[in-house]
Amino acid sequence: MSVQKVGVVGCGLMGSGIAQVAAQAGFDVVVREVSAELLEKGLKSIEKNLQRLAEKGTVTNADAAAALRRLQGTTRLEDFSDCDVVIEAIVERLDAKRELFSTLDAHCKKSTVFASNTSSLLITEMAAATERPERFVGLHFFNPVPVMKLVEVVRTIATDAAVFEEMVEFGRRLGKTPVRAWDRTGFIVNRLLVPYLLDAVRALEEGVGSIEDIDNSMKLGCGHPMGPLTLLDFVGLDTTYFISGIMFDEFKEKRFASPPLLKRMVLAGWHGRKSGRGFYDYSDPKNPKPRQLT
Ligand code: CAA
Ligand code: NAD
Repeated sequence: MSVQKVGVVGCGLMGSGIAQVAAQAGFDVVVREVSAELLEKGLKSIEKNLQRLAEKGTVTNADAAAALRRLQGTTRLEDFSDCDVVIEAIVERLDAKRELFSTLDAHCKKSTVFASNTSSLLITEMAAATERPERFVGLHFFNPVPVMKLVEVVRTIATDAAVFEEMVEFGRRLGKTPVRAWDRTGFIVNRLLVPYLLDAVRALEEGVGSIEDIDNSMKLGCGHPMGPLTLLDFVGLDTTYFISGIMFDEFKEKRFASPPLLKRMVLAGWHGRKSGRGFYDYSDPKNPKPRQLT
């Protein structure tokens, strides 16, 4: 199989990044959002990113313009009919993802490979909503997608071995370093990362340190590029809350359970950087201010 056309469902934080790297890697890309407004917002963020890369000289103006030309936005799933691979990057809810894949199954050609960018749901459970579980994998990218080099390529017990290796190669063609993982909740990275992020919230709740001191400790003491509370705001508190619920259900271990403060922040609509407020206030995005939360 030679991948030429890539479909991306969802043009939020992750979907926009995936669509961008696929277009930059030379694939024709169709990306779908639920409304014209959200589609416009997602496409604008890709255009801005490519423009910034061109201004810095990381890519030429011609390459940035060519990537944009390869990119088609849509609100219709029918436009995925001739895609070779479809990557899903919608909200972290099993019911929404299963419904989407079941509909895509009817619209796409038989040879299309389906992939989910889920952080914590089981690929097996999504594949079971389709007639093509052998052509179904996880392709788990990292935020920000244009910068982070890793992609976890995930196989289920039903994934065809040749399809899996094609997707590993596809990950390389996207410019990423693929690692192979089995379909266990959280795969490799989130199995290790999520308990750490949740523990940072527990440390804040217990008054071990302030928001800034917790973040600076891990940045300056361990050389992390971002402290854990900044990273939580960056990933999205709603997304992390869904992930922790799914991982807790799977493992029944306290380290995966959502701390009360995280739940309350999500209920209050504070979803982190993307909603303007989380552990920090982003009214001035270049100069985030820690908030009074405890
Ligand atoms: N989109 C595209 N490019 C971006 C970007 C974005 N959102 N944010 C930063 N960049 C680019 C910048 O343009 C810059 O590029 P150049 O080197 O070409 O100039 C480069 O990244 C570095 O950016 P900055 O100098 O502005 O800032 P920085 O050095 O602090 O780096 C960062 C920013 C790359 C985001 C860095 O802070 C980082 O690596 N943070 C940790 C990110 C992380 O851990 N991601 C994984 C999250 S977990 C996940 O994704 C899995 C899940 O399922 C939840
Ligand atoms: P997000 O909220 O930024 O974007 C999700 C987008 O999907 C929204 O714009 C929404 O309108 C759209 N959407 C919902 N249903 C749709 C449908 N049926 N068709 C088309 N679009 C639809 O979320 P995100 O952070 O981009 O996360 C997306 C997925 O990627 C989740 O499964 C998440 O767990 C995973 N993920 C997130 C991160 C992260 O750091 N945020 C990292 C890796 C993986």
